[in-house]
Amino acid sequence: MSTPSISTNVQEKDVSGLALIAAHSHITGLGLDDNLQPKESAQGMVGQLKARKAAGVILRMIQAGKIGGRAVLMAGPPSTGKTAIAMGLSQSLGSEVPFTAVAGSEIFSLDLSKTESLTQAFRKSIGIRIKEETEIIEGEVVEIQIDRSITGGHKQGKLTIKTTDMETVYELGNKMIEGLTKEKVLAGDVISIDKASGKITKLGKSFTRARDYDAMGPDTKFVQCPEGELQKRKEVVHTVSLHEIDVINSRQQGFLALFSGDTGEIRSEVRDQINTKVAEWKEEGKAEIVPGVLFIDEVHMLDIECFSFINRALEDEFAPTVFMATNRGISKTRGTKYKSPHGLPMDLLDRSIIIHTSPYNADEIRTILSIRSTEEEVELSADALALLTKIGEETSLRYASNLISVSQQISLKRRSNTVDLPDVKRAYTLFLDSDRSVKYLEEFSSLFIDDEGNVTLGYNGNSNNSATKIGAKVEDDKMETD
Ligand SMILES: Nc1ncnc2c1ncn2[C@@H]1O[C@H](COP(=O)(O)OP(=O)(O)O)[C@@H](O)[C@H]1O
Ligand SMILES: [Mg+2]
Repeated sequence: MSTPSISTNVQEKDVSGLALIAAHSHITGLGLDDNLQPKESAQGMVGQLKARKAAGVILRMIQAGKIGGRAVLMAGPPSTGKTAIAMGLSQSLGSEVPFTAVAGSEIFSLDLSKTESLTQAFRKSIGIRIKEETEIIEGEVVEIQIDRSITGGHKQGKLTIKTTDMETVYELGNKMIEGLTKEKVLAGDVISIDKASGKITKLGKSFTRARDYDAMGPDTKFVQCPEGELQKRKEVVHTVSLHEIDVINSRQQGFLALFSGDTGEIRSEVRDQINTKVAEWKEEGKAEIVPGVLFIDEVHMLDIECFSFINRALEDEFAPTVFMATNRGISKTRGTKYKSPHGLPMDLLDRSIIIHTSPYNADEIRTILSIRSTEEEVELSADALALLTKIGEETSLRYASNLISVSQQISLKRRSNTVDLPDVKRAYTLFLDSDRSVKYLEEFSSLFIDDEGNVTLGYNGNSNNSATKIGAKVEDDKMETD
């Protein structure tokens, strides 16, 4: 038996992206009406009205292509919906405008330099809308025949497709079979296949087969069977990011790197050539620049070199809107000795417009927790919700929100489908919030390793006299907290 090939890094990127969004899966937009007025609770968004309205104004400007090269800073205490608002913004942008989300700490990776990571993030946030002539196959599906080999490995098949004037049979490979299965293409569908990329688009169902279906969704669309040749040339418009163009054209990497996320450093000559080319296309009317949004969450994690890079990149001819979030007050900018508002250097702060978020009241917390429980398919009793709300008020919204799923596990253990008061109480005692954790730390401080590497070994000493030095002294500027 042959050993199957194992790939270890293909999925990694997707998973991290999912984790970032999962806590915000209930959010589908900013919850504004047509006049940018925020509704008290809409599209999963609750309260924080001023900040949402401000984000709406930014959204309008981004959509009008007016704000590329500008910076927006969202500042507020933890758990006040900064990341949530950024997610709402990205949902409202639509698929044409690129949105890239990174966390400040992600910029410091082992395989890429800080500036390369930032450059890639910036270039992922610039869309290029390209008009191209491509060759497509367009027709009504007569029959799809797929032969699955018993081992499940290689698939083969045939696609019979027709226009009113002709009919042809195409051989199918693995990739096309997957595409057809994913799009749920059936006989009677009118489809279009891009010959270069293999992308399949369902245009609708053929009128001639309308009577064959008795169960149809309300949005089933009927179209005419195409006329003439099966293969046609068509002008299509598609949007790719500058980064995607970089990767495809960087000879060492090739387009496969796009799927693995393993792009490595891209040479600056490649980027220069691409910039020149894109500028040319723009002149000739073949391409349009779509400045998108680069969201940098926890931006206070960046250091002074990153900040000066951002300052420079904002001046660039292709610059996205940089949307940043921080929970720092007056604090030190990493890599310097200076304190400044939000830990951002003054020159960057100066070019930013600032949106504030503020803590929620009990009603808002209750509504958000109730939306989260619906999203996580957890049924809460009224008492349980009331207690969670109180916990949210006294600790943090995020902590209370995390207790939802934990309490559910506890209720399941006693075979109940509803989370009740005792379940939440139990969850609250099992898992500490940060305040109680700090109290615990203060009580048992000597048993933990401190910044100087001091720790008391053994469980009966609560004084620092017997402290044993282990490990090296931690460097000041690597571990700074405010
Ligand atoms: N206004 C809001 N409406 C709905 N959900 C919210 C709102 N604000 C915060 N949340 C949810 O509460 C949790 C914590 O908010 P988050 O945006 O992560 O806070 P921050 O980024 O300010 O620390 C997330 O699950 C988030 O989706
Ligand atoms: Mg956040």
